[in-house]
Amino acid sequence: MRTDYCGLIDTKYLDQTVTLCGWVHRRRDHGGVIFIDLRDREGIVQVVCDPDTEEAFATADRLRSEYVIEVTGRVRRRPEGTVNTDLISGEIEVLAKAITLLNSALTPPFTIDDEDVSETVRLEHRVFDLRRPQMQHSLRLRYQVAMAVRRFLDDAGFIDIETPFLYKSTPEGAREFLVPSRVHDGHFYALPQSPQLFKQMIMVAGFDRYYQIVKCFRDEDLRADRQPEFTQIDIEISFLGEQQIRDIMENMIRTVFKSCLNVDLPEPFPVMRYDDAVRLYGSDKLDLRVPLQFTELTDLMKQVEFKVFRGAAEMSDGRVVALRVPGGGELTRKQIDDYTAYVSIYGAKGLAYIKVNEKARGIEGLQSPILKFLPHEIAHQIVERCGAHDGDLIFFGADRAGIVNDSLGALRQKVGIDLGLLEEGWRPLWVVDFPMFEYDEEEKQWMARHHPFTSPKDGHAEYVETNPEKAYAKAYDMVLNGWEIGGGSVRIHRPEVQEKVFHALRISPEDQRAKFGFLLDSLRWGAPPHGGIAFGLDRIVTLMCGAESIRDVIAFPKTQRGQDMLTGAPSTVAEKQLRELHVRLRNRPPK
Ligand code: AMO
Ligand code: AMP
Repeated sequence: MRTDYCGLIDTKYLDQTVTLCGWVHRRRDHGGVIFIDLRDREGIVQVVCDPDTEEAFATADRLRSEYVIEVTGRVRRRPEGTVNTDLISGEIEVLAKAITLLNSALTPPFTIDDEDVSETVRLEHRVFDLRRPQMQHSLRLRYQVAMAVRRFLDDAGFIDIETPFLYKSTPEGAREFLVPSRVHDGHFYALPQSPQLFKQMIMVAGFDRYYQIVKCFRDEDLRADRQPEFTQIDIEISFLGEQQIRDIMENMIRTVFKSCLNVDLPEPFPVMRYDDAVRLYGSDKLDLRVPLQFTELTDLMKQVEFKVFRGAAEMSDGRVVALRVPGGGELTRKQIDDYTAYVSIYGAKGLAYIKVNEKARGIEGLQSPILKFLPHEIAHQIVERCGAHDGDLIFFGADRAGIVNDSLGALRQKVGIDLGLLEEGWRPLWVVDFPMFEYDEEEKQWMARHHPFTSPKDGHAEYVETNPEKAYAKAYDMVLNGWEIGGGSVRIHRPEVQEKVFHALRISPEDQRAKFGFLLDSLRWGAPPHGGIAFGLDRIVTLMCGAESIRDVIAFPKTQRGQDMLTGAPSTVAEKQLRELHVRLRNRPPK
């Protein structure tokens, strides 16, 4: 039987006989001697087969990549000059006495060391892909993070309670996945977008501190940081206020980073109001590593003739801002054109700029296609307000505030990275004081920004129905290096406030009963003040691994189009199954 893991054999084992099991990573025939790099989850060891051990040599001769073998042999020092300092086992090799072929393997679709395999191919052959060291590392780190979270929460008195996956369809935000009921003709379960209401009811039930590392399901358009099923670290606490909840959560994340990466995150995390985040960075998930900020110009631009700027400045929801890029004077025409194309993705109609060549020369020292539209005095004020130096470039965004924030916010990040301005390290922050509602132009109504169970700030409950735009929430997001890694809030624990919020969201009293009766009832059974948060485990691990997409830290993820390339889900089902579920298809799916 196996005695040890391949990757862990080092000089401590010299002269010992070991039995190892694993996959043939590489086989090299050096005319007479065969070398096998044998791999298991802990790494690689070099096995040497010499023709004197006839039987083992004959087996070694038949081995191919990814064959599964068992090797018994003696550990010896590698000859001088063949030491590999990258491996734990780099100073030794195992001289094979016996080799057993446990299983053969098809020719691999790609080699494990190949860095340039397309993601489609990797996902089609996920089992093989998961053998790659990066994937082994990410999934083990993911496990360590989950364990560190569990240890922290367990020590802090949190209890893991499971909540149902077969849930009820409720309008909570994202589109839901539905599951038809066989027993109840025409009725459906919905998969939960999060255990939000269950965890609140667990608080009403008196458990005081709950957590769960739990799958959530959202039928959204997918991106690099979104999957249709993803994992939350879901948490709820009774009798604590916003600050205390945030303190515990911040502590948890600090502990996880320390124990898994040996990284010290700042203590405390900086806190930024939502309005300030948007004003200065155009985004509520800003990357603090990029040392660039917006300069507000809306007031100044009300005085100019230039239509593009003045038009935006005078719109009720318009905004004009500048983004100073230190050293941006070096950008070429082509690069600026590329950035203009980039911001157009976010709806920007153009990207005006001024290059500050030599401030001391006044207007002569500036260079820009829009200078002819701006009075000298205004151009001067722009440069001063931005604090621009010689060699800088100033970009402008002028439009509805939403477009300016999205486009220049994205540009800030991109330029920061392109020009090498990105600072090293980990820059977490809290974004707090979110507005309760945002206006949905299409639906022509107010929607909850976080979710409808979020408490208004003290004194703001009265605005909920009268001035929704003035109502701010006890809601908070944790943001790390430009990713929203967690979001939560203090909840509404009084039924009359909850009803007010439903009313503001135009959920009729009948619908309130039908959809959320269970919540309103439980709030009447003595609900304690409570609040919580949910972290995106996939996102946290992605950042920790330095991966680009959360797909890289999920063993069996879905593609951008929501497919599982390995198993072929989603797939068609037999007519009989549909009939049992009382489902008739509108269209025959294409073969
Ligand atoms: P929220 O919707 O903000 O809050 O989700 C919490 C965190 O989950 C992660 N996340 C995702 N990760 C991967 N793929 C997705 N599609 C996805 N959607 C969200 C994010 C996010 O910050 N019930 C509330 C939490 C609460 O109020 O306690 C909730 O679900 O990192
Ligand atoms: P135009 O008058 O449309 O030729 O635009 C003059 C300059 O302003 C060009 O450099 C455009 O890229 C820029 N521009 C146009 N619209 C906007 C906008 N909404 N925000 C920022 N710059 C713009």
